[in-house]
Amino acid sequence: MPRSTHDSKPKLVALANPASPLAEAYRTLRTNIQFSGIDERVQFLMVASAQSGDGKSTTISNLAITYAQEGKKTLLIDGDLRKPSLHHMFGISNRLGLTNVLVNEHPWNSALRASDIPNLFIMTAGALPPNPSEILASQRMRNLMEELSEEFDMILFDTPPILAVTDGLIISSLCDGVVMVIKSGRTKHALARKLKQSLEHAKARIFGVVLNNVKRKTGEGYYDYYRYGYGYGQKKS
Ligand SMILES: Nc1ncnc2c1ncn2[C@@H]1O[C@H](COP(=O)(O)OP(=O)(O)OP(=O)(O)O)[C@@H](O)[C@H]1O
Ligand SMILES: [Mg+2]
Repeated sequence: MPRSTHDSKPKLVALANPASPLAEAYRTLRTNIQFSGIDERVQFLMVASAQSGDGKSTTISNLAITYAQEGKKTLLIDGDLRKPSLHHMFGISNRLGLTNVLVNEHPWNSALRASDIPNLFIMTAGALPPNPSEILASQRMRNLMEELSEEFDMILFDTPPILAVTDGLIISSLCDGVVMVIKSGRTKHALARKLKQSLEHAKARIFGVVLNNVKRKTGEGYYDYYRYGYGYGQKKS
């Protein structure tokens, strides 16, 4: 993804400035995911990156907006139960969220927040639990995903960094595919390779790689939209 300019913050650019090159890049990402999963179910998606601050939350939020704008009933879930941020990103309450549904048995629709964007619903992380990995790996989580799959066309997860905790890999086992986020100029080759190996080891299907924060001015203030390498994802076996 191109690095945002001062006047177009990357946060929810797909909403705030849908005509911008950055918003266009998120739409292209959506299209490429659709192509790479042509014969497979692409309903559950997540982002993954090696470290904190690579741009996962920003990428998955904008991707969710582009699915909703396309008319898909979309649910964005904050699967970062350690440092959740979607409630800040969308300016909504985190009083009731995923962990409340899983641990306190609140009905899932009580934890759904409608956003300002038609077709986009958000489930924030909820109360921070002492045992995030255990909660994400629970049978209750799998049952919840089963129920949600009947209600939504697309279900997207934000996640914590893969190389820090196992949560992201646990979520990957629930997903049809993963979008890897590499931060330009920051993510070292060795870390990127380790990220890819971890995902492949968990049998995750890698739908694409977003090179985020690309600083390349071309012409008069235009930015190189995005750069992906994609197509080397392994099929889930
Ligand atoms: N394309 C971009 N251009 C400029 N800044 C960006 C871009 N993408 C993300 N950022 C900024 O980088 C910072 C980190 O982004 P974000 O919170 O999405 O990362 P993250 O991978 O979710 O981090 P964490 O693992 O800590 O949750 C934010 O301030 C965000 O606005
Ligand atoms: Mg984040």
